[in-house]
Amino acid sequence: MQQDIDRLRRQAEIDLAAITTEQLLEDFRIKYLARKGLIAGLFDNLKTVEGQQKPALGKMLNQLRSEVEALFHQKQESLRRPPVQNSTLDLTLPGRRKFLGTRHPLTQTMDEMKAIFVSMGFGIAVGPEIEDDYHNFEALNFPPDHPARDMQDTFFLSPKALLRTHTSPVQIRVMENYRPPVRVIMPGKVYRNESVSSRSLAQFHQLEGLYVDKGVTFSDLKGTLVSFIKQYYGSGLEYKFRPTFFPFTEPSADIYITCFICNGKGCKMCKQGGWLEILGCGMVDPNVFKSVGYDPEEYTGFAFGMGIERIAALRYGVDDIRLFYENDVRFLNQF
Ligand code: PHE
Repeated sequence: MQQDIDRLRRQAEIDLAAITTEQLLEDFRIKYLARKGLIAGLFDNLKTVEGQQKPALGKMLNQLRSEVEALFHQKQESLRRPPVQNSTLDLTLPGRRKFLGTRHPLTQTMDEMKAIFVSMGFGIAVGPEIEDDYHNFEALNFPPDHPARDMQDTFFLSPKALLRTHTSPVQIRVMENYRPPVRVIMPGKVYRNESVSSRSLAQFHQLEGLYVDKGVTFSDLKGTLVSFIKQYYGSGLEYKFRPTFFPFTEPSADIYITCFICNGKGCKMCKQGGWLEILGCGMVDPNVFKSVGYDPEEYTGFAFGMGIERIAALRYGVDDIRLFYENDVRFLNQF
């Protein structure tokens, strides 16, 4: 009898494996599980067994029945699932989502900065990235061979053509074409032959500003730039002006803010100094006015220029500006 039970179990498993339709499964149920089926037949046989074996065999038979029932239900479930047409199609795999891009953090930074200056009445001007020596240097009061040219390591394309090292040549192009009052910002890409590090790149962005009119003073410069810093970074920030030299402005200053990666304690971003230079500025040099045909006795003005990468890095706490150019979506998705 025990052999009969084992044989039936094996047979049921084999039959079940071959079943592909609900109709065949119903035949299986009738063959094994119905009231006159094979398992019921074994129960009938049990009645003829005598003696001590009977309870043990009864237990085995009950177990066989529940096993076959469970297998039957499993198969029923799997037959009811939607048919899979192609065996290589795995419906449980997650779908391929189209992912929505975001504006690059540098574009976002530029856009926000532009919006602040536009709200203060500045217009926007652009100029070429391939410049001539005259607009990039000479008209900005860098005489040929003046050491100030060394501050901006230049990619020359020919003795006269170069990749602009700053956005200041756009000042010249604007003043050549418009009479005062002039109040513009000039965003764009610039190039310098710098060794690439966490703080500097050979290609980066600047935002230049120029305001020329009668009676423009250093107070206007200060008011405008401090207002920008407060709007952009928040009013709690510390800043300082430090005198410096640019050929095209006189007097000139660099503006520093507290390094807010380290909060002024010193880190690799601020070269351990605790302060970060965010922009250069000054009153337009009379020689620059002369080169564009403005009368320096009649007009005064201020100009400023800032590096976008540095400002974006500070704003978002990015301690290596190379990340902006690696295009790693894990980085870009955070903005
Ligand atoms: N052009 C300067 C630079 O790239 C910045 C600057 C612009 C300074 C305008 C003063 C006025 O370093």
